[in-house]
Amino acid sequence: MGDSAVLLRISDVSKSFGEVVALDDVSLDIRENEFFALLGPSGCGKTTLLRVLAGFEQPDAGTVTLDGSDLLSVPPEKRAVNLMFQSYALFPHMTVAKNVAYGLVCEGLPRAEITARVDEVLDTVGLSDKKAALPKTLSGGQRQRVALARAIVKRPRLLLLDEPLSALDRKIRGEMQMELKRLQHEVGITFVVVTHDQDEAMSLADRVAVMDAGVVRQLDAPLDLYRRPRSVFVADFIGSSTILRGSYLDGHWETPGLPPLSVPAECSGARAIALRPEAISLLSVDDSRCRLRGTVSEVYFQGDHALAQVDVDGTTFLAAVRDDVLPERGARVGITWQESAIIPLVAD
Ligand SMILES: Nc1ncnc2c1ncn2[C@@H]1O[C@H](COP(=O)(O)OP(=O)(O)OP(=O)(O)O)[C@@H](O)[C@H]1O
Ligand SMILES: [Mg+2]
Repeated sequence: MGDSAVLLRISDVSKSFGEVVALDDVSLDIRENEFFALLGPSGCGKTTLLRVLAGFEQPDAGTVTLDGSDLLSVPPEKRAVNLMFQSYALFPHMTVAKNVAYGLVCEGLPRAEITARVDEVLDTVGLSDKKAALPKTLSGGQRQRVALARAIVKRPRLLLLDEPLSALDRKIRGEMQMELKRLQHEVGITFVVVTHDQDEAMSLADRVAVMDAGVVRQLDAPLDLYRRPRSVFVADFIGSSTILRGSYLDGHWETPGLPPLSVPAECSGARAIALRPEAISLLSVDDSRCRLRGTVSEVYFQGDHALAQVDVDGTTFLAAVRDDVLPERGARVGITWQESAIIPLVAD
């Protein structure tokens, strides 16, 4: 995405429902043609933020601009923004083509233009041969595509998708993720997708905003979120890791139950340190390179690799191991890591 222009600017937006603070001073920029994901646990404010953008909710404070102009004063139906709801009901008695055409018919566009645009968009989502079909005869993935076609046919500047794939089973979901990404490239519309599925956010998005209790905790590209989480919350939420709370003293990390561990100076001031599983190697217990020794308490298969849980005097380390060198549960092993792989976490 590089330095492409800002399309949407959200500045200091807050929204409460009675005692519940749904959005707490949220600021973020979404760039032109970006695939942007809002990721966070249930109730963290994702849908509320989309509803503010779509115009179904007015924030208590803050501003939102689209292409530099105030968006909040524009009524929902006049915004160049389309929201695809968490549950996207298709009209059951209408054909696929009619479902997709519906919004354009409401706008009163000429019939010929409607037909041309519906044909084009159905072609884009790969449903040209289902034009005359009724929704009940379609698979879940196909229905999802009709809903998408309906949302993009109006050519919004910004398409907001609230948990677009949550109703689908795992396999179709994977296929639809690729589909969504391809579609976004093809139609050139900026997408903001809400999800609480980290894999989905990480595989789809150019950038991800991780939200927690109404606050954006971190906004970064997926790889940077994974490699450089700044808080315990984000390190814990994205991927798996060994997180050691403690404090820095003279080049060492002091954490209860473990000997002082040598760490880089950038860990001074951290609340905790983290190690990703692939940064931790298992060694034989008598190897002199061991930093710590412990017992394998669990092994989890992950497909092309496995995760070994190693208990070191009550502290659990997670190490990624290849399937062909699986340790036995109960085995005594040593662990080590590169010091440079240690991630300082500066906030909770
Ligand atoms: N209309 C409303 N009235 C009262 N409380 C609301 C309203 N809408 C949202 N909330 C509250 O605001 C908070 C944020 O809700 P929101 O729907 O934005 O969460 P979410 O991140 O979309 O969650 P989920 O992943 O479960 O969909 C929640 O505590 C919710 O209960
Ligand atoms: Mg929601």
